[in-house]
Amino acid sequence: MKTKIEKLKIDLINWYKKNKRDFSWRNTTDPWQILLIETLSQQTQLERANLYFEKFFIEFPSPKSMANSSLKIILKMWSGLGYNNRAKRLFEASKIIEKKGFDQIYPNFEILPGVGPYTKNAILSFAYGEKVLAVDTNTVRICQRYFGLNDTKDFFKENFEHFLLNVDSRDINQAFMDFGSSICKSSNPRCNICPIENSCSKHFSVNKRGKEKFKGSNREVRGKIIKLLINNGQIKNQKLFEEINEDSDKVQKALEGLKKDNLIKFKKNNIIEIN
Ligand code: ADE
Repeated sequence: MKTKIEKLKIDLINWYKKNKRDFSWRNTTDPWQILLIETLSQQTQLERANLYFEKFFIEFPSPKSMANSSLKIILKMWSGLGYNNRAKRLFEASKIIEKKGFDQIYPNFEILPGVGPYTKNAILSFAYGEKVLAVDTNTVRICQRYFGLNDTKDFFKENFEHFLLNVDSRDINQAFMDFGSSICKSSNPRCNICPIENSCSKHFSVNKRGKEKFKGSNREVRGKIIKLLINNGQIKNQKLFEEINEDSDKVQKALEGLKKDNLIKFKKNNIIEIN
């Protein structure tokens, strides 16, 4: 597992270096900006959240500026984003941060209203460079598909260190997020251009399923019969059954289908040949 994680990590970071999205808050370690963008981007596309971020950061460049504002003003600016309780919690959080300061709260950001395990780890990674995984829906989906897992909870608990070894946590966390939103998307994933498709277990299981379906199928038996007839010119019914070595009902059904499609003909003396 360790080797497979190493490979995924390297491939994702290489992809990210060439394809990462550029946002102003990706070049800062200011925890306030990170909290702002992470709150705005919950249940919202990142590009859209970024438009609100630009407005919010001009109006509220610090926790203090928001703490001294009012819920009415904040909600007005929030309009169009929905989930208004996020705005209320952010306002409450700004008041706590204004009093205590981020560095005094560090690393217990979960004490802030609206900050759950994901946002806590996003602040720790993006603002403080801590070696933590900010596991969001993208991280979960990619690992479920890549490693063929249903439940990833224990997987992340047991393996997070392998993901973080020798990399900047900001890079691996954001690589997962960008890769998940543009390649390994929840619906219509772009497997055809995915650079890690060959080692993805979803890819293998889909292909294997395809092969298993083919194995023993009517299509496969028909193919075997045609091949046999091409190689032998004509063949006795009984010999054909022996050679094909499949369930006789299946062979009979395939023969009838081939006859119906005028691909073979039954001749005298139980002889079968290509039409
Ligand atoms: N979604 C939420 N935060 C993000 C980030 N920092 N990068 C990409 N997608 C995100």
